[in-house]
Amino acid sequence: MKAIRVKGLREGNATIALETIDTPTISHPQEVLVRVLAVGLDGTDREILQEKYGTPAEGEDDLTTGHESLGVVTEAGADSGFQVGDLVTAIVRRPCKDQNCVNCRNGHADFCQTGKYVERGIKGAHGFLAEFYKEESRYLVQVPSSLLKLGMLVEPQSIVEKVWDQVQRVQQRLIWEPRTALILGSGPLGLLAAMTCRLLGLDAYVWSMSPQDSLQAQLVQACGAVYQQSGAAGTVETLTAYADGLGKPVDLILECTGYSPLAFEAMSVLAPNGVLALLGVTPADRKLEISADMLNQGMVLENKCVIGSVNASRKDFETAIYRLQQMEKFVPDWLARLVTNRLDLEAILKLDFKSIPIKAVVDVMPVEQWGDLVKQTKEVAYSFSV
Ligand code: BGC
Ligand code: ZN
Repeated sequence: MKAIRVKGLREGNATIALETIDTPTISHPQEVLVRVLAVGLDGTDREILQEKYGTPAEGEDDLTTGHESLGVVTEAGADSGFQVGDLVTAIVRRPCKDQNCVNCRNGHADFCQTGKYVERGIKGAHGFLAEFYKEESRYLVQVPSSLLKLGMLVEPQSIVEKVWDQVQRVQQRLIWEPRTALILGSGPLGLLAAMTCRLLGLDAYVWSMSPQDSLQAQLVQACGAVYQQSGAAGTVETLTAYADGLGKPVDLILECTGYSPLAFEAMSVLAPNGVLALLGVTPADRKLEISADMLNQGMVLENKCVIGSVNASRKDFETAIYRLQQMEKFVPDWLARLVTNRLDLEAILKLDFKSIPIKAVVDVMPVEQWGDLVKQTKEVAYSFSV
């Protein structure tokens, strides 16, 4: 089968190649063989493909990339609970082996304490940018056929679901009735976060670098949120000035740019009792001069909270499926507009990430052929009171 691999990662001058490798075979009653239909690319993939950043599995030099997957079951072990034709996505992280890691031992590798977790396509395990992958059924999540074209967005949305779940848990410390959310960044994560906030009934504001007439801005407005371009001539220059101009308390801030100076500025614009959630990282080592005492004082005297959030658990994937279906009903085709580029495996080799306005999806198999493989025997419905 064909697979996109970053080769020679341990040698320091890695390259990307479309390779022909052995197709995996299942050998355990709980294993499942999945034909990959499509894989979404995000900032982590950009890092891996451009900066050759991933970590191969122990004893290997190469890494198959890709972690935002949509596939169809082509072979199902007798005890897997899946059937041939089921549409599936896969959770990204696998638990560490430490018996004392209570989170890994309880289905929450997203809170692994040892750092020895594995992430398919990123760290220590091959990913999904290949024609097939095999997986234990417990790491697969069934996707309803109503999301046939959009199932590769379940993983990025699971990141939003995790952070919202975290925010709700943290805020059980008080009576909290959030009204206003500010989202920093208008990449796929920022846009999904803005849409999610709207569905949760919050007034949502997005502050980002894309121009005021960009597709990003249009999508923000299409879900009923407000867009403001940051930093451009003739616009409000700083986040502080922008937040002041809103004239209302900012109860929740979701930082989706990874630009760390913004994270510190966000702490000072957060309302009393508010939460700032950090979701982005950049592979830089910036030094910053900050008003440390003023920030510290604001955090203490106003009960503010800053949390970081990474990855997602199975439950977040399930909630993500529910939420994507809600989004489709709320603003039909909004999610399809988010996917600005579709390419095939070969095209990854010469992909210029700067040419992707919002999100690229790799069709590992031509879309016209998907329908022939997908034969849901039972429709899944995830319904939550969120
Ligand atoms: C993925 C997460 C992963 C994180 C850190 C993100 O791109 O969506 O699942 O935990 O990168 O590797
Ligand atoms: Zn662990």
